[in-house]
Amino acid sequence: MIGGGQLARMTHQAAIALGQSLRVLAADPGDPAAQVTPEVVLGAHTDLDALRRAAQGVAALTFDHEHVPTEHLEQLVAEGVTVHPPPQALIHAQDKLVMRRKLEALGAPIPAYAAVHNVDDVDAFAARTGAPVVIKTVRGGYDGRGVVLARDLAHAREAVAGYLADGVEVMLEERVAWRRELSALVARSPFGQGAAWPVVQTVQRNGICVEVIAPAPGLAPELAAGAEALGLRLAEELGVVGVLAVELFETEAGQILVNELAMRPHNSGHWSMDGARTGQFEQHLRAVLDYPLGDTSALAPVTVMGNVLGAAQTPSMSMDERVHHLCGRMPDAKIHLYGKGERPGRKIGHVNIVGGSWAGPGHASPDNAEYVAALRERAQRAAHWLSHAEWTDGWDGH
Ligand SMILES: Nc1ncnc2c1ncn2[C@@H]1O[C@H](COP(=O)(O)OP(=O)(O)OP(=O)(O)O)[C@@H](O)[C@H]1O
Ligand SMILES: [Mg+2]
Repeated sequence: MIGGGQLARMTHQAAIALGQSLRVLAADPGDPAAQVTPEVVLGAHTDLDALRRAAQGVAALTFDHEHVPTEHLEQLVAEGVTVHPPPQALIHAQDKLVMRRKLEALGAPIPAYAAVHNVDDVDAFAARTGAPVVIKTVRGGYDGRGVVLARDLAHAREAVAGYLADGVEVMLEERVAWRRELSALVARSPFGQGAAWPVVQTVQRNGICVEVIAPAPGLAPELAAGAEALGLRLAEELGVVGVLAVELFETEAGQILVNELAMRPHNSGHWSMDGARTGQFEQHLRAVLDYPLGDTSALAPVTVMGNVLGAAQTPSMSMDERVHHLCGRMPDAKIHLYGKGERPGRKIGHVNIVGGSWAGPGHASPDNAEYVAALRERAQRAAHWLSHAEWTDGWDGH
């Protein structure tokens, strides 16, 4: 696996159960996956020789991020390495303009967009769509970096001018007035088998995913089925091998639009580690190894994932002690820590709360707002405790 982050770390966890082992190309021996895998190749994902060293003799090569230059991957393929997803698919997760054009050609629903070559293109685009403008770097963005939701036309022009002056390629999108964000997560094997998990709701704060609710509460069955089918169709049409996340906007009018694609295990699928029969990390491996795919059905009516994001001020209480207290107070919380240093806003772990029996009003169902709210409250409480050493409900264990 190229990249030593938390996705590689959790993929290695799943690999062990399948009797496999991951070799990881990591930048640093302290990277999350480098800490836990015996075979670490140190090097940069932009260095062809480092990639070659990592790929030596492997059954397949896959990724924990999408930033490996496709020309390097094409070279590896030419040298006989099995690369999953293949570079001609991966390009759609690397380059947002290539992705938009391909989705348009496939007839997938997307926001209005445009390439931009000079600042005046902003005015023309805004006049055409009549909506506020979003500026995105075409490559290299993540966790909201490289996305500017412009306040007004002047702000949009200023942002574009700044990027262009720095030689950064950007594109424009209409600002979608979405109700909420969804994610359709699927997997596809080289054999051609596809599998979809239930469509989830994702919650972003400052462009970073903070919470996932699986399945998306109250999602109309035809929208859910349509989103799943879209994910499977895109995986097929693009020739994806492995997990594909299709990030979606659900509009006020009840329409679904594709935001972007990721071809690897994705934050919107972390719930599946504890909440589905087959988790996304195992499924990614099954796909990459061309095994039959696993059952993606949910184990509970609702599972909520809360991301643990580093606090503005790292608490004085050690993480070990925070884990200890959380185990004591919430024995059902499933904790996943990435072995990363704590920095403000950094993803350092996540917690899954798998819905169980429900003593409140109504049934344990994603359509029961009180049931969902109770699970969300508990997931947030657990995640916030791990990052801040503070209980959101003011509870005092002493
Ligand atoms: N066209 C749009 N209209 C409205 N909101 C948008 C639009 N594009 C992006 N956003 C908001 O910005 C967030 C980040 O955008 P996007 O997913 O494109 O960027 P990213 O930084 O590549 O994200 P990721 O971390 O998922 O790779 C989205 O989740 C959404 O909340
Ligand atoms: Mg995104």
